[in-house]
Amino acid sequence: MIKKVFDVYEGEEVLIYTVKSEYLEADILTFGATVHALRVKDKRGGFTDVALGYTKVSDHYDKGGYLGAIVGRVGNRIDKGRFSLNGKVYQVGINDGNNSLHGGIKGFDKKIWTVEYADERKIILSTFSPDGEEGYPAGLIVRVTYEITAEKGLKISYEGVADGDTVVSLTNHTYFNLNGEGKGDILSHKLFIQADEITPVDGELIPHGDFMKVENTPFDFRTPKLIGRDIEKDDPQLKNCGGYDVNFVLSGKGFRKVAEAEGNESGIKMSVYTDREGVQFYSGNFLNGERGKTSAHKKRGAFCLETQSFPNAVNCPEYPSVALKKGEKYKTTTEYRFSL
Ligand code: BGC
Repeated sequence: MIKKVFDVYEGEEVLIYTVKSEYLEADILTFGATVHALRVKDKRGGFTDVALGYTKVSDHYDKGGYLGAIVGRVGNRIDKGRFSLNGKVYQVGINDGNNSLHGGIKGFDKKIWTVEYADERKIILSTFSPDGEEGYPAGLIVRVTYEITAEKGLKISYEGVADGDTVVSLTNHTYFNLNGEGKGDILSHKLFIQADEITPVDGELIPHGDFMKVENTPFDFRTPKLIGRDIEKDDPQLKNCGGYDVNFVLSGKGFRKVAEAEGNESGIKMSVYTDREGVQFYSGNFLNGERGKTSAHKKRGAFCLETQSFPNAVNCPEYPSVALKKGEKYKTTTEYRFSL
């Protein structure tokens, strides 16, 4: 394992750790437990970095976008940042118009995490979120393990336990370009998502307990198709977000393959395995020329497949619950596997 200083932000050192195998290398920051780079062995025998990132911590504040970060306490949007639990109403940080996005104003993506353990292939990071932080109830300890697996994967295991009842839904927000970060847009990537339905959203990108069949819509990725094939179709949800930005209801249960993408130039394939019920497919619509590691990030220059519970589930009894009882263990696993 390689460990270096990445940056100093407001007097605090942010470290960068590299975990790797012969096929895959991941650079992880203590800031946000962020995947800063993900280098995949390519067909030329070198490595292609498939993850977008910034060169300094202040860019994560100034340019935003949650690049590579762990997102929490609750990923995606909460309508008006309000919900009730055990009969009590909670108001969490508003940071996206009228709503709360990705944990609020200072979510887990902006914390400096503690490294509990690291070796050649694996790093374990943790953080404590006190009772009332960003308005959320109960103190919560979160542990995230990144591990390079024998299947040429980056496995992300999330664990948590709280000292009172709360709500939790963590995800990782890596932006992928399988042709290489900074190498044009992702419209010619092929994508498959094992989902018959999405949770359709309103004009502020909030779902309200509904389900919509993907059949005969631009959201049908059950047979692999190019991301760009239907992205400009005259569909209100696509028009509203400038492309794809919605939660897909994943078929099946347990740890299973739920999605696959392929870079048209590199031939690098990424298969997503998870035990979660949803995945946010976001086609990088709001990327807007921010300078990254090697180039400016173009609109649709990368995509995210954020495995998650359903957005706004805290307000929708129709969706699986994100409540976590006092002392109960939160545990979920996602793996991004690469092949050529
Ligand atoms: C959301 C987008 C948002 C992006 C970056 C995604 O998870 O669905 O709407 O712009 O994160 O914040």
